[in-house]
Amino acid sequence: MNFERLCVLGGSGFVGMALVSELASRGLFVRVLTRRREHAKALVLLPTVEVVETDVHDERELARQFMGSDAVINLVGILHESVKGRVDRPEARRGDFHRTHVELPRKVIGACAQAGVSRLLHMSALGADPTSRSAYQRSKGIAEALVREAGLTASPEPGTLNGAKLTARRGMQVTVFRPSVIFGPGDSFLNLFARLLRLLPIIPLASSRARFQPVYVNDVVRAFADSLGNPESFGKTYDLCGPKVYTLLELMQFLAHTLGLNRKLIPLSDRLSYWNAWLLELKPGAKIMTRENYYAMQTPNVCEGSNPFPSGWQPAALEAVAPSWLQSASQRGRYQSFRHQAHR
Ligand SMILES: NC(=O)c1ccc[n+]([C@@H]2O[C@H](COP(=O)([O-])OP(=O)(O)OC[C@H]3O[C@@H](n4cnc5c(N)ncnc54)[C@H](OP(=O)(O)O)[C@@H]3O)[C@@H](O)[C@H]2O)c1
Repeated sequence: MNFERLCVLGGSGFVGMALVSELASRGLFVRVLTRRREHAKALVLLPTVEVVETDVHDERELARQFMGSDAVINLVGILHESVKGRVDRPEARRGDFHRTHVELPRKVIGACAQAGVSRLLHMSALGADPTSRSAYQRSKGIAEALVREAGLTASPEPGTLNGAKLTARRGMQVTVFRPSVIFGPGDSFLNLFARLLRLLPIIPLASSRARFQPVYVNDVVRAFADSLGNPESFGKTYDLCGPKVYTLLELMQFLAHTLGLNRKLIPLSDRLSYWNAWLLELKPGAKIMTRENYYAMQTPNVCEGSNPFPSGWQPAALEAVAPSWLQSASQRGRYQSFRHQAHR
């Protein structure tokens, strides 16, 4: 089967923008579902991309939007709940991990069955585990189980939706992706720490020994796009990691070095890391760290053993690609600060 018409949820985000651009560059037709068209405005210009503002939490509406698609890709995810996020984004509320990571995938699976779509690519995260202490990882773990189950079990009986005949499928062809932290221009991980380094000469560093294996956003989107029509990937779960493991302290040192900044990093003990996360959680506005992140960082965010992804997976090294945009972002930041001082 050819996978030419795709429907993407979460296409307006950091990974989503990169993925939708990649799919469009391969000549595929992509319908991006968003809660607000404004969030996906950068994609509107792509000739084979259609942006649809809709209620993605309404299963019937999802089924209507999935009609005619060869595959659905669900990237929706949040890192924090019940905190104020970006001012242009709706505020996340308590319970949103469950709503966005568990209930929404359940609706996506149901809507796929109603619309006769049998191919589903699902974005999870390394560390996802239904028994994790972290609510983020727990909710992601439950969703993974739901998606895998959809790959095994039969779908509901056929019916009709808005007069259209619905086909039941015997079980979906699902692929689950579990990346470590993802880096790239516009990421919210390296860029957040880079901002802190530019701002503060001395930084108390919580969970400094937490381990990550950052993976480049272009590699993640390549893994999604390559797997679409690859039967080898049906029913599989892929952990996606870069070539090297770093502690948080090593990542900060790398960033400071790349930005040409001489900063004092003070690793905090485990107990202080917890209290630091708790204090930062109370800070209004965009979150730097919460206790939720502290719990998630207790589990090493690294791929065990060799990377299972097929077809010559050669992920890019952080050192090879990140300096180009980190340094240019740094230059732009300096000009913006000059403009600000000059009231221009
Ligand atoms: N970034 C990383 O380092 C990383 C690492 C591992 C796994 N992941 C996973 O990768 C996925 C994408 O991450 P990202 O960094 O691209 O995230 P992002 O930039 O924050 O984008 C999240 C997307 O999810 C949608 N969304 C957010 N809250 C929602 C809600 N309450 N209901 C419905 N849709 C909602 C948004 O769509 P609209 O606003 O357009 O509706 C947005 O396009 C997530 O599932 C995340 O857990 C990310």
